[in-house]
Amino acid sequence: MNYRHAFHAGNFADVLKHVVLMMLVEHLKKKPAPFFYLDTHAGGGRYDLSQGESQRSGEYKQGIGRVLEFPESALPPEIASYARLVRACAGPGRSPITAYPGSPTIVAQLRRPADRMVMAETHAREAQTLRAEFARERLAAVLERDGYATMKAELPPREKRGLVLIDPPFESDGEFDKVLAALEMAHERWPTGMYCVWYPLTERAAPQRFRRQLERTGITKVLDVTLSVLPEDSPAGMRGAGLLLINPPWQLDARMAELLPDLHRLLVPEGSGGTGVEWWIAE
Ligand SMILES: C[S@@+](CC[C@H](N)C(=O)[O-])C[C@H]1O[C@@H](n2cnc3c(N)ncnc32)[C@H](O)[C@@H]1O
Repeated sequence: MNYRHAFHAGNFADVLKHVVLMMLVEHLKKKPAPFFYLDTHAGGGRYDLSQGESQRSGEYKQGIGRVLEFPESALPPEIASYARLVRACAGPGRSPITAYPGSPTIVAQLRRPADRMVMAETHAREAQTLRAEFARERLAAVLERDGYATMKAELPPREKRGLVLIDPPFESDGEFDKVLAALEMAHERWPTGMYCVWYPLTERAAPQRFRRQLERTGITKVLDVTLSVLPEDSPAGMRGAGLLLINPPWQLDARMAELLPDLHRLLVPEGSGGTGVEWWIAE
């Protein structure tokens, strides 16, 4: 378990995930009733991209680095809101890359006082950082435990509406199997919940096999959105990233079909790769 998200924080895959995460949370806020948010693989919550691991990998330069090159007025509204939130996290007068918000921080910034969040993280140091970050937050629990076990313990939530973000490191081939088992269990307990699964587009990760297995579970309303930065036959490790959305908001598919090409143009000015919006399983 050597994965440290600081290497990848703010990269193109984080940008995709965090823009969509914000859209899902904004959708939940359309109703006054409180929502529940579970982050099964929460990470450290905040990343100084001007330091250490982030500088060594430099991945953020092709992600949030590109977004921040544009004035917010030139960006589609959802991407402008994301850029604004990233800048707000760093605070006035500070470089916007010094406090890049991870998924728990993004949701904490957007939620209302009665919205509740639970975050699971197994890496002791990340969990400690996250706990410090949330020490003064109400209705926010940081658990140093397995994210999949936490799904079992927390679902269904008392709020009856909400979102589960499943964002594993995908360091082993077995991760898709774990995600599948967790989704089957969670969907049986809480079929109306919204689920968002991040996954890498690589040769090894075999999302097509995952798709076939998912089709056999009986889970419906599964939307897949992808963004690739390299062509499909690229030998490089991760050519793109996908988000699998179960029970996505109404018309999110249409909005993503408009927004993703804009996001792709912004992140990949050279034009390699592409985007996709596809219902893996319809209603
Ligand atoms: C991709 S990062 C999470 C990034 C975060 N969701 C964000 O968007 O800012 C994955 C995290 O999962 C943690 N992790 C690995 N296995 C886990 C498990 N079984 N349960 C919970 N967390 C785990 C890793 O330590 C790592 O911090």
